[in-house]
Amino acid sequence: MQLPYPSAHPFPLLLAPMAGVSEAPFRQICRRMGADVVLSEFLSSEAIRRRIRNTLEGAEFEGVERPIGIQIYGADANAMAEAAALITQHYAPEFIDINFGCPVKKVVQRNGGSGCLRDMDLVERIIRAVIAATHLPVTVKTRSGWNDETRDPVGIALRMQDAGARAFTLHARTRTQMFTGKANWDDIARVAEALDIPVIGNGDVQTAEDLVRMRRHTGCAGIMVGRGAFGNPWLFRDGRALLDGRPAPASPTAAERFRVALEHARLALRLQGDTRKTVIEFRKHLGWYTKGMTRAGELRQRLFQIESIAEAEGIFLDYLEPAAAVA
Ligand SMILES: Cc1cc2nc3c(=O)[nH]c(=O)nc-3n(C[C@H](O)[C@H](O)[C@H](O)COP(=O)(O)O)c2cc1C
Repeated sequence: MQLPYPSAHPFPLLLAPMAGVSEAPFRQICRRMGADVVLSEFLSSEAIRRRIRNTLEGAEFEGVERPIGIQIYGADANAMAEAAALITQHYAPEFIDINFGCPVKKVVQRNGGSGCLRDMDLVERIIRAVIAATHLPVTVKTRSGWNDETRDPVGIALRMQDAGARAFTLHARTRTQMFTGKANWDDIARVAEALDIPVIGNGDVQTAEDLVRMRRHTGCAGIMVGRGAFGNPWLFRDGRALLDGRPAPASPTAAERFRVALEHARLALRLQGDTRKTVIEFRKHLGWYTKGMTRAGELRQRLFQIESIAEAEGIFLDYLEPAAAVA
């Protein structure tokens, strides 16, 4: 089963598209740690078509991030085609991914994201229009259905494959579930069995062991990791080791976590601007990087108040100092 994009490994690990998180700095960190493929956060086709600067900035990336997919959404086939053509011409990613999964009300109300799942003829028209507008492979990402009554992952997947999608990612929850309950990995297994194109599994992979379990349970062609990578890009490194039958490397020490967190922060300052806004938005990552550490609560409380990355560096040094004195 041919992947539509290059990948260092035949069984790719992908960083999920995540608004406000899977931006260029985090994508670069995850690529270094072993993510084979990354995706941009979802971008509105209407905004791309109207050349809204903020949105277009979301399509920017650096060469080290490749292979990368730019994800677009919208319920108007013409706008989607126009956006795909513009992205192809100006940004030239490896592929274009269509989001049919977003559950957010503002998006769904206009039939964007998972809103489309209530009208599969529209879904088909959108996929065909996007394919006609680009020479790049077009992939899709969706949920198992709109709600439990209409849950039909295989039916949805077959329609999308027929329309020409080159890979299919399933977040195995319905729209009405939002992020509650558990992702139903049986749905992924059924779709992987039914489709000829690669099926990428997604939902509730939190650890390297989960990656191995999902692959075994579903027979998927690759796995996309979302929230499990928050503050833990090592998940890609560890997951690859386990998938290859090697033991997982030792967990990162506090010093290693801080080193990567600061590297990530410096990338954010360079790529997103050395501004207060960048620092404030970066606080969440600092909180995630320190999750599970001793005295994490206290550490986080201080990190959530920083106004500069230098301050974070000082807090990290304070934290490490007693350990250094003992050693
Ligand atoms: C903060 C956040 C933002 C997200 N943004 C997007 C998005 O832009 N496009 C998309 O297809 N899915 C988006 N998702 C869904 C994820 O890609 C993924 O499908 C979902 O989180 C389930 O995977 P996980 O359990 O590994 O997190 C988002 C999820 C989160 C938590």
